[in-house]
Amino acid sequence: MRTAQNGPSPSATEQAIIRLQQIRKIYKVGVERIHALAGVDLEIGANEYVAIMGASGSGKSTMLNILGCLDRPTSGKYLLDGQLVSRMGSGALAQVRNDRIGFVFQSFELMARASALKNVELPLIYSNVGWWSRRKRAIHALERVGLGDRMSHRPNQLSGGQKQRVAVARALVTNPSILLADEPTGNLDSKTTVEILALFDQLHREGQTIIIVTHEEEVAAHTQRIVRMRDGQIESDLPVQEDKDQHSQERRIPTSDDVSDAPSGFDADNFDNERIPDNGRPATTTQAPEPEPRSPQSDEAGHEPTPTPARARWASRGASR
Ligand SMILES: Nc1ncnc2c1ncn2[C@@H]1O[C@H](COP(=O)(O)OP(=O)(O)OP(=O)(O)O)[C@@H](O)[C@H]1O
Ligand SMILES: [Mg+2]
Repeated sequence: MRTAQNGPSPSATEQAIIRLQQIRKIYKVGVERIHALAGVDLEIGANEYVAIMGASGSGKSTMLNILGCLDRPTSGKYLLDGQLVSRMGSGALAQVRNDRIGFVFQSFELMARASALKNVELPLIYSNVGWWSRRKRAIHALERVGLGDRMSHRPNQLSGGQKQRVAVARALVTNPSILLADEPTGNLDSKTTVEILALFDQLHREGQTIIIVTHEEEVAAHTQRIVRMRDGQIESDLPVQEDKDQHSQERRIPTSDDVSDAPSGFDADNFDNERIPDNGRPATTTQAPEPEPRSPQSDEAGHEPTPTPARARWASRGASR
């Protein structure tokens, strides 16, 4: 099995946008210490399209939050575009987040009372972009995601897929170095999922670097590279086809040829191969459940927790002004 220890893909090494070295994140909850990330090394190059997968609790969101500068590691180094961000103070980190990272979340995280246009303009307000330029860029971003005719609609006047498009436009409006998406299709039906994935494919073709956390193999199949996590570590890091080959081997359904090895009473012909969960979630669930709010905890290094997942990005930038 080729694993993370075999190193990153050559393209990533040549011009890495992201470089993680021995990243650890330890949360303290009462007397317990939770090793959410337990020594992660990862490099991601420009214009790569990467999926992060793994069972619930394996550390995917924790890693995405660190990659997105929403949170800092307890130890280890994170270089973004060659700049050491893991030791930055909150103000500098908020600036990096606002200028270079675009986020898309499962639950859209749009402002309910604002139009699509206002939602997309928001990151530019925190970047001190003037009114006219802000408006032009927000319009362009909405047109890019195919919502030129829905700019004045509020979120409750949009379909799920359209809401997620607004969120993608908001993520892109600052021309970020990387687009990070945490379960972006988790709240969407299968038809809308296909539409949003087509949008991500288009953005990737246009040169965008994309990192997407997902539980769905069909979603990951759109990317070029799959990083699988387990217990806070990278279990495997493979080009999508190699990952598919390896995991189809691992999940190979027993055939009648295997029956001689099977326990007595095993009937290969009646083996139910429809449901083989590989992601720690029930196989019948097509939509990821809403994550439960976690009570705020500080980490080992005494860092404050991220206030609220999505708004933190805007709020902390605003607060630092
Ligand atoms: N703020 C926090 N305080 C304490 N423990 C936390 C906190 N955030 C995450 N954890 C713990 O860290 C581990 C990794 O959590 P994380 O949210 O990264 O998992 P995940 O892979 O994204 O899971 P899921 O697929 O369910 O979203 C889990 O054991 C979780 O309980
Ligand atoms: Mg998660």
